[in-house]
Amino acid sequence: PAPAAADTTLLGFTAVPISEADTIVVPEGYTARTLIPWGEPITGSYPDYSLSNTGEEQAMQVGSHHDGMHFFPIEGESPYEGSSEEGLLVVNHEYVEPRYMHQSAVGMTFDSGAVPMQGEMRVADEVLKEMNAHGVSIVHLQQQESREWTVVRSDLNRRVTALTPAEITGPASGSDLLKTKYSPDGTRTRGTLNNCAHGVTPWNTYMAAEENWAGYFRNGDTLPGNQGPEPSLPREHARYGVSTDTSRYQWDLADSGAEEYARFDASAMGASATDDYRNEPNTFGWMTEIDPFDPTSAPRKHTALGRFAHEGVVFQPAIEGEPVVCYSGDDARFEYIYKFVSAQPYEAATASGDLLDEGTLYVAKFSADGTGEWVALAFGENGLTPENGFADQADILVNTRTAADFVGATKMDRPEWGAVDPNTREVYFTLTNNTRRTAEQVDEANPRPENSWGHIIRWNETGATTFEWDLFVLAGPSADSVSPAGNALTEDNKFVCPDGLWIDADSRVWIQTDISESVQNTDEFAEFGNNQMLAADPRTGEIRRFLTGPTGQEITGVIATPDQRTLFINVQHPGATAADADFAAGNLNSRWPNQSPDIYPRSATVVITKDDGGVIGT
Ligand code: FEO
Ligand code: CA
Ligand code: CA
Ligand code: CA
Repeated sequence: PAPAAADTTLLGFTAVPISEADTIVVPEGYTARTLIPWGEPITGSYPDYSLSNTGEEQAMQVGSHHDGMHFFPIEGESPYEGSSEEGLLVVNHEYVEPRYMHQSAVGMTFDSGAVPMQGEMRVADEVLKEMNAHGVSIVHLQQQESREWTVVRSDLNRRVTALTPAEITGPASGSDLLKTKYSPDGTRTRGTLNNCAHGVTPWNTYMAAEENWAGYFRNGDTLPGNQGPEPSLPREHARYGVSTDTSRYQWDLADSGAEEYARFDASAMGASATDDYRNEPNTFGWMTEIDPFDPTSAPRKHTALGRFAHEGVVFQPAIEGEPVVCYSGDDARFEYIYKFVSAQPYEAATASGDLLDEGTLYVAKFSADGTGEWVALAFGENGLTPENGFADQADILVNTRTAADFVGATKMDRPEWGAVDPNTREVYFTLTNNTRRTAEQVDEANPRPENSWGHIIRWNETGATTFEWDLFVLAGPSADSVSPAGNALTEDNKFVCPDGLWIDADSRVWIQTDISESVQNTDEFAEFGNNQMLAADPRTGEIRRFLTGPTGQEITGVIATPDQRTLFINVQHPGATAADADFAAGNLNSRWPNQSPDIYPRSATVVITKDDGGVIGT
């Protein structure tokens, strides 16, 4: 569509400049307040945050590394309608930074990627604390007269962690590939891990994505018949990057030896799959549904949506009598974008998670002419047969990446969040970067080699399995960027590495950035400062910078109350860029949000209101 006149812009605020300050900056006329930082007590005996909190105490507190989230209006029937003063904020906790978590790490010359070891082992309670800092927090919130939001000490508050018993449903449930010592019938597992972005179902439940779960496991096996110099693993581990050496946090080395920790070693140690945890990694990589209004409900892993590094899932607004449609990206270099279509129609009166257990999973093929095709990953179709190595639908779903490779889907530049414009049903996806794409591997949908900057792609469905797409924005410096209006990005809106994405009820496109901590504020990334959030008007093509964050973090998670007068965002991993030696010396580049020399930086939610009480963004 032709851009509308500039005076009808959805954006009413003055852009904020690039920042390297250890603080949140929002436009004039807006106020930002922090809420529910890591360690905020929400259940049980409500233990106050302290570096010396135990593993058990962490399970009564908000987890770390806040990511995707949704505000569910209290007593709501629908996820986007109801109270704007009271509700359940449901927040993913993607991972942890052990050096900021344990008294035993204080003063150590401590590699930011390492874990504190006691000899060859890990202290079991430190492992428990890390596991309980993962997962999801469900927090009952209320807005006060002062417009500040506070935590309600409510029976609805809940922590889901890396230990919470979960059900596995859909076509792969009960498959031999999911049988473990814990669940010999392959229908259950414990915990959800590395919950990055999220989704919201039309029936008012939350979906937590399991992204970089593979790193939590090791598998030291060498398969019989392997002739190579390196041990080879089953494809359902190898294709996802399970290590043959050490797991990321070495939870498998907890000194208690308890099997809830030992399960992260997926080596085949017993006689069969039900004697050990060789299949434990296969119980991760799924979209996990949580009913925030039922604290006793078990999280439910929906295998029909496929198994990969799920960034999140985004639903089309449901239409009575039509199938449920949702999209999910696999965030790794050269991975894919998927769509799921339910077999049964949506009916508001009876809709439930059962709709996600039967249907068709598709993968996207983007053609050079701006059209695209959804290719079904269905047993017996498109060559997905036993002759070609796919035993049944469960095998296809456990090995979703391998099936997508087989059908020749389009390899993307790290698909992160998706968003659907509620007014046009257009779908947007961020493609955050891919520095490994060569000039020979460039295609129209991923047009830049060594793509450090990232872009946003957009499409319209044109039939059940066809779509038309274009590029919404090529991020980058002014010399290497294209705005939605066709211009270069400017001082007011230049950004790189788009990750979080959400489209509000008026069609404002909110874009959040995640410049990796390994390059943030250095070299060619220095001009972009700290990670930020922008808003775009897709009709005028204009983008303006709305917020800049503190040092070392990424901005992620974004949702408004139904009246659009409160906006919640998350700050994840402040201070992650602190050098190891500076950590040892206690000389950190971030102390956000407490700004106390005695408190480490903590991930937290930020609540944004407009001082005149207006709609955020106007
Ligand atoms: Fe956890 Fe792809 O960001
Ligand atoms: Ca992300
Ligand atoms: Ca990140
Ligand atoms: Ca990211």
